[in-house]
Amino acid sequence: MKNLKGKTAIVTGSGRRKGIGEAIIKLLAKRGCNVVVTDLGEPTGRNFAKKHIGSSSEMKAIVREIKSAKGQAISVPCDVRKSKQVEELVAKTVKKFGKLDIMVNNAGVGYIMEEFTDFKESSWDAVLDVNLKGAFLCSQAAARQMIRQKSGGCIINIASQAAKSGFPFAAAYTASKHGMIGLTRSNAVELGKYGIRVNAVCPNHITTGLGHWQNEFFSKKLGMDYETYLQAIVDKNPLGRTGLVQDIAKAVAFLASDESDYITGEAMNVSGGEEYH
Ligand SMILES: NC(=O)c1ccc[n+]([C@@H]2O[C@H](COP(=O)([O-])OP(=O)(O)OC[C@H]3O[C@@H](n4cnc5c(N)ncnc54)[C@H](O)[C@@H]3O)[C@@H](O)[C@H]2O)c1
Repeated sequence: MKNLKGKTAIVTGSGRRKGIGEAIIKLLAKRGCNVVVTDLGEPTGRNFAKKHIGSSSEMKAIVREIKSAKGQAISVPCDVRKSKQVEELVAKTVKKFGKLDIMVNNAGVGYIMEEFTDFKESSWDAVLDVNLKGAFLCSQAAARQMIRQKSGGCIINIASQAAKSGFPFAAAYTASKHGMIGLTRSNAVELGKYGIRVNAVCPNHITTGLGHWQNEFFSKKLGMDYETYLQAIVDKNPLGRTGLVQDIAKAVAFLASDESDYITGEAMNVSGGEEYH
């Protein structure tokens, strides 16, 4: 199915192996999109160590794989917290592919978790800066370009189950993801007149690099071993499994396509029925 043929898409945070972003960018490329793989590329400070981020070599390898499957792709390093870099990301995309139709705000930090009474101000800022300010900057740069093009577009925010429910030790993460839904709704209302649809996807647990960190963190906090903790998640899920990166990629491909052309302002749970409001 090539129902996105000729569209151009950026997926932030798509340079880390086994991540949701990698799955999204590969599926969009398979459906016919020209894609831009973008991620931090290099570690930047204490909260963004090598073990947590998508590296330049991973980004390049993902581009090679897309090209070898006959897709069109480039990689552009970008820190979504920096407006100038975000503007350059959009400019490079337009220079290479002529336009921008789909912006997926996937970059996120989910590995800074602390007891609320000890939650550091610097930790709060680190999470909010990527998860919420990053989505704001990327949505703004994308919307400006889409409005100039006069042919509409799609902005898709990868939120979380934590955008609908509370989680312990995760005040910043949960607040940022709830905020992302607010951003989605406000932008949907404001940008609808330009034919720009804005939606969010809310995954439950997926064992990516980030998900693995969370499994270790929460199993330790709960005094469970890793496998028992994971099994407990599976046991409470109506469809009897945790999420897969492909589940989210398929939802994004749907929201990016004309199949969803009357859907905007939606925050869609993709959680096997674990989250339903
Ligand atoms: N894995 C889960 O269980 C789960 C559940 C719900 C929501 N999510 C959300 O899905 C998204 C992807 O998460 P994932 O599980 O694939 O994790 P991941 O760690 O594989 O992906 C996150 C990516 O964001 C990038 N990133 C971080 N800071 C950045 C910055 N300043 N600029 C640009 N890129 C930056 C990282 O380098 C990484 O590649 C995140 O927004 C996360 O909050 C994940």
